[in-house]
Amino acid sequence: MKENSIYPAFIARFYNNIYEHVRTGIDTEFYLQKIKNTKGPVLELGVGTGRFFIEALKNGADIYGIDISPSMIEILRNRIPAKERKRVTLMDAARLNLPVKFDLIIAPFRVFSHLISVDQQLKVLNHIYTHLTKEGIFIFDLFIPDPKVLADGIPEHIDFEGEYKPGKKFKRLISAKPDIINQISQVTMKIIWEDEVKENSEEWSFPMRFYYRYELEHLISLSKLKLVEILGDFSGNKLNPESKDFIVICKR
Ligand SMILES: C[S@@+](CC[C@H](N)C(=O)[O-])C[C@H]1O[C@@H](n2cnc3c(N)ncnc32)[C@H](O)[C@@H]1O
Repeated sequence: MKENSIYPAFIARFYNNIYEHVRTGIDTEFYLQKIKNTKGPVLELGVGTGRFFIEALKNGADIYGIDISPSMIEILRNRIPAKERKRVTLMDAARLNLPVKFDLIIAPFRVFSHLISVDQQLKVLNHIYTHLTKEGIFIFDLFIPDPKVLADGIPEHIDFEGEYKPGKKFKRLISAKPDIINQISQVTMKIIWEDEVKENSEEWSFPMRFYYRYELEHLISLSKLKLVEILGDFSGNKLNPESKDFIVICKR
């Protein structure tokens, strides 16, 4: 399943245009504040194109990032000064091996949904343990499964339309098919964009693992990490019937 979590170049290309609109207002303040409150080095697993990383670096954080997708990393590297590029490494979190220990490790925006097997999830959690300082904290988030969406799937529809540069339109179509027994939502994303000469279209299908609350508690207790708490949103509220995200806080 590993290769399915590698983001293709056309997904990486439009990533910022989409998620800076639909996600940044939800989670950025939370993670940037956590980074700001950290004195020592910070690591972002699945750093992507740098939605948090770039701002944190500008704010003076001693931040590092790894990601499994070459096309995501390439975009990030081109967005930061050359002298900072050594902070970003192409690496699978399941093989995390850096010569630094971190006071804070984060895996924002559903990175763990790309880890399909329990073996893979535990490998990552235990590598995080060995990369944390004694007082170090690990924070990640996941979507809370909606039983209706899981049962029905998501029929193909346009979920984003915009411009990727002035006058150049693109749209994204998304659909999902549930695989309840394997706790996977098989997601298909199609991007249609116009360039100088024609309309282009590319499609990517990949599995997203969904998790339940007590599964997360059990998973973490199987790892070397200790669970601190699971919040229900980025404002710090406890889990409640309106919660859309699990925000999982662990310590060494
Ligand atoms: C939804 S994006 C999140 C990117 C960034 N954290 C953000 O919030 O915008 C998930 C990222 O996780 C990366 N990823 C998926 N599986 C990974 C793995 N096993 N190791 C490292 N990165 C991984 C993907 O390449 C992708 O860049």
